[in-house]
This record gives sequence, structure tokens and C-alpha cells, in this order.
Amino acid sequence: MLTLRPLQRNDIPILTQIDAVSNDPPWNEDNFSRELNWTHSLSRIAIWEGVPIGFGITWKVCEEAQILEIAVLPDYRRKKVATHIVRELAMTAEKLGCKKMVLELRCDNRVALKFYENLGFNVVGKRKNFYAPKGSNQNIDALLMACALPL
Ligand SMILES: CC(C)(COP(=O)(O)OP(=O)(O)OC[C@H]1O[C@@H](n2cnc3c(N)ncnc32)[C@H](O)[C@@H]1OP(=O)(O)O)[C@@H](O)C(=O)NCCC(=O)NCCS
Repeated sequence: MLTLRPLQRNDIPILTQIDAVSNDPPWNEDNFSRELNWTHSLSRIAIWEGVPIGFGITWKVCEEAQILEIAVLPDYRRKKVATHIVRELAMTAEKLGCKKMVLELRCDNRVALKFYENLGFNVVGKRKNFYAPKGSNQNIDALLMACALPL
């Protein structure tokens, strides 16, 4: 059975492992640690039969919920885990007064683009040279996506 709960400090090592095989550049332990200190940070870790397999982190900024990072371990993808994470974060943000959900996405991340389109997000803009991937001297543009709440 899949369960979701907010991140806790002792999740940090596994979160960095999940992110290291998912996002480029990945978050380090300090990045995750800082999130646990913010009151505007909403998070969920997904646990499948006792095993942490994914997570999502969102900030509530006034009436917007901004998705910062989301990842699911490769072996557990295409099972709607991330869909559950985003829907639950969206529901929580809406209860706190958010009217829309927004995010930035690497413009070459076709899988994530499909994932967010499937949830009802649209591309609403672009940020030039937003990402600096590890080991590359070329920055990558970000797409801005947004969706009205409720999802
Ligand atoms: C993007 C990501 C979080 C999606 O997680 P997931 O749990 O596999 O996604 P879901 O199973 O909820 O997918 C829901 C829908 O999104 C779309 N989708 C997801 N993965 C897809 C893929 N590889 N190819 C095409 N469409 C895809 C499909 O429409 C899918 O529905 P379907 O399986 O019924 O066709 C996951 O692929 C991942 O961790 N990627 C690396 C990290 C990343 O890119 N994060 C986002 C940037 S912030």
C-alpha cells in the first residue's frame, strides 16, 4: 500500500539518494535540511510497503503553491506515485488559500512536461539559462508551468 506523509529530518539521506538518480542538479542534504525549517514549505514522502520511493516539495507563497522538487525512484515510475504526491500537495495548498500551482522545469525534460500536462498544467513562460547541470558549462532554459487549483 502507498502512504504519504510530510518529510522528517531522518528521511534526508534517502531523499538525497532518490534525488541523485532523478534530478540534475540534484539537491544535497543541506537543501533538504533547510526545507524542514521553513513554515511555508509543504512536503510529502511516498512510502511503498515500508520503502521510501519518492517525494515532493512545494512552497506556499501568498496565493501560489510553487513546486520545487519532485522525484520517484526509477523502478517505481508510471504507477501514479507522483500524481498522488502532487494531488495531495495541491489539496493541502488549496486548503491554506492557494489559488494556483506553479513550477519551473528544464526545457529538455519531456517526461516531466508530459507528467504535468497530464495533471492539467500549461506552459506559461520561459526563463533563459535557468539551470546549471552538473559537469556541463552550458545552462539550460526553464519552462514555467501553471495550473489553477483545485487540480
Ligand atoms: C516526472 C516523475 C516525477 C513522474 O513520476 P511518476 O510517478 O512516474 O508519474 P505518474 O505515474 O504519476 O505519471 C502520470 C502520467 O504522467 C505521464 N508520464 C509519466 N511518465 C511518463 C513517461 N516516462 N513518458 C510519457 N508520459 C509520462 C503519463 O501521462 C502518466 O500517465 P500514464 O502512466 O497513465 O500514461 C518521474 O518520472 C521522475 O521522478 N522523473 C525524474 C525527476 C523529474 O524529472 N522531476 C520533475 C522535474 S521537477
